[in-house]
This record gives sequence, C-alpha cells and structure tokens, in this order.
Amino acid sequence: REKQRLLVVANRLPVSATRKGESSWALELSAGGLVSALLGVRQFETRWIGWPGVNVQDDKGQKSLSSALEEKGFIPVFLDEETVDQYYNGYCNNVLWPLFHYIGLQQEDRLAATRSLQSQFSAYKRANRLFAEVVLSQYQDGDVVWCHDYHLMFLPKFLKEANSRMKLGWFLHTPFPSSEIYRTLPLRSELLKAVLTADLIGFHTYDYARHFVSACTRILGLEGTPEGVEDQGKLTRVAAFPIGIDSERFIKALETDMVRSHIQKLRGRFAGRKVMLGVDRLDMIKGIPQKLLAFEKFLEESPEWQDKVLLVQIAVPTRTDVHEYQRLTSQVHEIVGRINGRFGTLGTVPIHHLVVMQDRSLEFHELCALYAITDVLLVTSLRDGMNLVSYEYVACQNTKKGVLILSEFAGAAQSLGAGAILINPWNISEVAASIEDALTMKEVERKERHRHNFMHVTTHTAQVWADTFVSELNDTIVEAELRT
Ligand code: UDP
Ligand code: G6P
Repeated sequence: REKQRLLVVANRLPVSATRKGESSWALELSAGGLVSALLGVRQFETRWIGWPGVNVQDDKGQKSLSSALEEKGFIPVFLDEETVDQYYNGYCNNVLWPLFHYIGLQQEDRLAATRSLQSQFSAYKRANRLFAEVVLSQYQDGDVVWCHDYHLMFLPKFLKEANSRMKLGWFLHTPFPSSEIYRTLPLRSELLKAVLTADLIGFHTYDYARHFVSACTRILGLEGTPEGVEDQGKLTRVAAFPIGIDSERFIKALETDMVRSHIQKLRGRFAGRKVMLGVDRLDMIKGIPQKLLAFEKFLEESPEWQDKVLLVQIAVPTRTDVHEYQRLTSQVHEIVGRINGRFGTLGTVPIHHLVVMQDRSLEFHELCALYAITDVLLVTSLRDGMNLVSYEYVACQNTKKGVLILSEFAGAAQSLGAGAILINPWNISEVAASIEDALTMKEVERKERHRHNFMHVTTHTAQVWADTFVSELNDTIVEAELRT
C-alpha cells in the first residue's frame, strides 16, 4: 500500500538556516516541542512547509536555500523582515502566545501592542496568505493537509476558499485559554471563524478543547456538541489528541557509544552530588525565575544539602527580538548570579546555568546523557501546552528511575500525574518541599512512579498521535459526506 501523502504546515521548519555565502547555507535543527514531535512521525510521505527562520530577498538566495531544503522534503515560505516583525514577533509572540498562556504583559508593552494591533493583524493575515500560496502550489488531490499552531489560524480559511474539498486539519500546540481570557482578544471572532473552516481541530487535552468549544458558543453563538461545533448543520469536529515523543529514538540513543562516553564524563564531573535538571526555552511560560527561587528556598531551609546538590539549568534562547524575552533573560541571569553568590564556594556553585547558543545547540547525545544521569527533573511551567521535556526525561530514566517534579499547569500533568510529584510553581515553599521529597525518595517508590510514566511515554508516542489524528480526519470527512 502506498503511503498517505501528508502536507505538514507550521511556521517553523525543522531546520533553521543561516547564510554562509551567496548560495551557501548552514542548516541547524530548530528547537521546540512542535518540531521534535513531528520529526518523530515517519509513517507518511511527508512534505513540510514553513518559514526557514531567515530573511532572504534575493533570487539567488531563495533558489539555493530552496534546493538545499528540498532534499529533506522541506519547502520554505519566504517572509520579509517587516512581516516577520509584525506577524511573528508582534501578533504571534507578543499577543497570542502570552494570551493563550494566561501571561499578562507589562502595562506599557500591552498598550504598545494595542496600538499596533491593526497593522500586526494585517501582517498576520498576509503571512497566512503566503503560507496558503505555497501549500496550494504543492497540493495534490488526495493529500491530507495538517496545519499547526497559533501562527496559522487563518490558513484553513484561505485553503478552503481555494479548494473546498481539501482534507484539512488544524492542531494547536499551546493551551487554549478559558473563554473569559480569550474574549479579551480584539478580533477574537475572526480567528475562531477562520479556524472553524477546518474539518478537524485538535488540542492536547480535553480541557483545551472544551475551552475552545465554549469560546465558539459564547462569542459566535454557535452550538457546541460532544462532537464539536455546529454552524447551520455543518459540523467542525473538535477533539483532544495528546501529543507524545519518539521514545524509541531516546531509548536507542542511550545504547550508543557517544551517549555512553558522555554519561561517563558527566558522572565524573558531578561525582558526590545529586543533580537536578531543568531544560527549557528561555520563555516566560516556563517559570524559570520561580524555579530558581524555589531552589534557593530549598538551599536556605536545608543547609545540610548545600554542598550535596546542584541544579543544571539548560536554557535555549528563543524569540530574542521580543522585548518580554529580553527582559526575562536578564532577570534570569540576575537571579542565578545572586543565588550562586550567596551559596557558592571557592570550588563550586549550586546553579549551572547553561545558555545554549543559537550556533552551538545542545547536541542530541549530550541532552540524552543529561536526561539519563540526573536525579530529578524540575518542570515549573506556569502554563504549557504539553511539555515534551518531561516525556524525554522519563524515556531516558529506565536505569536510574529519577523523580519528575512537574507543574500542574503543564498538559503533561494529565498524563504523567500518577508518576510525577505535581506542584504549583507559584508556591515556592511547596516546590522547595518537593525537592526535598524527590531527593530523599526511597527506591521502591521511585521505581513504582517511573513504571507508570515509562509505560505512558512508550505507548503514547508521536507516531500514535499522528496516526490517530489523521485517521480521525479521514473518518470525519467520510461521515460528512454521508450526512449530505
Ligand atoms: N530541545 C532543543 N534544543 C535544546 C534543548 C531542548 O531542541 O538545546 C528540545 C527538547 O528536546 C524538546 C523541545 O526542545 O523536544 C521542547 O519541547 P517542550 O514541549 O518541552 O516545550 P516547547 O519548547 O515546545 O515550549
Ligand atoms: C512552541 C510552539 C511552536 C514553536 C516552538 C519554538 O513549541 O508551540 O510552534 O515552534 O515553541 O518557538 P519558535 O518561535 O522558535 O518557533
């Protein structure tokens, strides 16, 4: 049987490009959960359409980059600098992203965002149109088109207008907020209506799906049913499809010489201490300052641990042109400096804060080794669609059976809740107490908790996620045809 052709459309391509010469390019793996989950999906014949993360205006550049990407099945959407600024930095990451994560902007930033709203919104639509043009140029009859994330909420509408028979799904990788929050968004109705043109709409959790349906009923006055949202007899199917990882890839990597030798190195470096780990993009939603303050509280309250534990925090810079992210970066540096000054000794500091540079991303084998040797993973997201870092940690802990401390505000709390210690990241005393619990937990309990999580992570994989979504999309279309 031939593989189903799948067009994946997301703002971010799996690789981001940097220009090295007139026609030469360096391609580097992009960070983030969307890219890593979708890279784990291999059962379709996939073409991936997205922005290569670089501004290329000249013909020579566009052609050479397109052909470098073509080999891997990636098709670039070229966006000019102005569009990136208004659409990506502006509307996507300064308006939608914070709103969907219940994060308030500082008053001055919020007012600035309000003032530029119209021009940002038109850039958003313009960018979505450009994506649609590229999709249409690649589309063949029978293809499944799968649009991803908050960047592309208008895309289903533009595509359906051009071809109403296209099989079209849209999946949101972030939370969808309560309708009480969502309704503060200017232009809230346009976005909902545009997404509703898709055949199937997917979210990570049942709660996000429910929030979406209630936004449609309250704001658009449509009817919500257990199946989805109905508009004059036309149903848009809405459901939860929790994402997962390619767990095999991690489990296999642990057996390679590269990872093994790295594990040896790290063991030597951290000998005699328990090691806690954090791996996050440097984003407000990850609650990094809260995590650092909780760790400080723990050190303060448990002096006997001061020279026996350290926190390795990997931070991946992200969206560095957005003001809020710049502010966060300096805030985090300041807190790390203060805590290290307070508890550091001549020989060592309690927090190893490693900012992964854009041109020197943490290698996959280094990440696996860190996941495998650390005693505790600390996830303190204030809101997080799913949080795949927690899944990756579990996949790599089959030997050590380390403890996962997980924010109840991450989507993963609904799937790994049985095995993790759940915390409210705003309550730093509670987090400090769970650090103590995690570091002193008996092996029997660690094994039992890990067993739950490992079972989940290895059965609810990225492949299963994509299969379920695509087959639900196919079924939805068959049912719609039967109804008419
Ligand atoms: N990751 C990465 N580069 C790094 C460190 C981590 O690409 O230097 C990956 C990590 O392995 C994970 C993803 O980034 O797959 C983060 O996904 P998650 O769902 O936890 O959060 P997101 O970044 O999507 O908000
Ligand atoms: C989250 C979003 C993705 C995004 C990723 C990295 O996972 O859901 O759509 O790709 O963050 O952010 P960036 O802005 O660098 O693409």
